[in-house]
Amino acid sequence: MENINLENIIIEPFSIKHIEDVTSIHSQVLDGWSMKGLIGDLANDSTESYVAMYEGKAVAFCSFIATEDAELVFVCTHPLYRQQGIGYKLLSESIKALPTSVNSIVLEVRSKNEPAINLYKKMGFETLGKRRNFYSFPEDDAIVMELIKGGVMGLN
Ligand SMILES: CC(C)(COP(=O)(O)OP(=O)(O)OC[C@H]1O[C@@H](n2cnc3c(N)ncnc32)[C@H](O)[C@@H]1OP(=O)(O)O)[C@@H](O)C(=O)NCCC(=O)NCCS
Repeated sequence: MENINLENIIIEPFSIKHIEDVTSIHSQVLDGWSMKGLIGDLANDSTESYVAMYEGKAVAFCSFIATEDAELVFVCTHPLYRQQGIGYKLLSESIKALPTSVNSIVLEVRSKNEPAINLYKKMGFETLGKRRNFYSFPEDDAIVMELIKGGVMGLN
């Protein structure tokens, strides 16, 4: 693990110049996307995606479907850079950058994914319910969570 100073982490919109770094991060996580899937994300007008940059390299990625309201579809931090606040900083700044029309953000997460569930709770997401056997490989339930944007931890 590399120790970083969070002040040196810069959040910026995901673009084609990050594709190799972001593909490499996705190759190391469960349900990660292929390079083709990531290029599809770039081409999709309904998605808003961001990266966390450290020393010129993308070390974390997140993507939202943002129309009237938003859905967080993926967030990941490179395994070498985890548990240092990067995921929290990336999501906080990305949510602030979403269109002002977006009032709430929903997401689904594997019920056994404790790091992600803790991250979302820390951000102010609340549990709405559960979808049984929503995931396969491996099988798992989905927890559905929502964040109301206004006023929660300054995420306006
Ligand atoms: C979930 C994930 C994005 C967190 O990224 P990160 O950069 O390590 O997160 P942060 O360092 O900002 O941690 C923020 C909070 O998340 C929680 N958290 C992070 N890692 C954790 C772990 N291993 N165990 C328990 N809680 C954890 C904690 O509440 C933490 O706050 P704290 O440091 O005050 O305890 C990262 O573990 C990851 O990429 N996982 C694989 C991909 C994934 O499962 N994504 C979610 C589904 S799409």
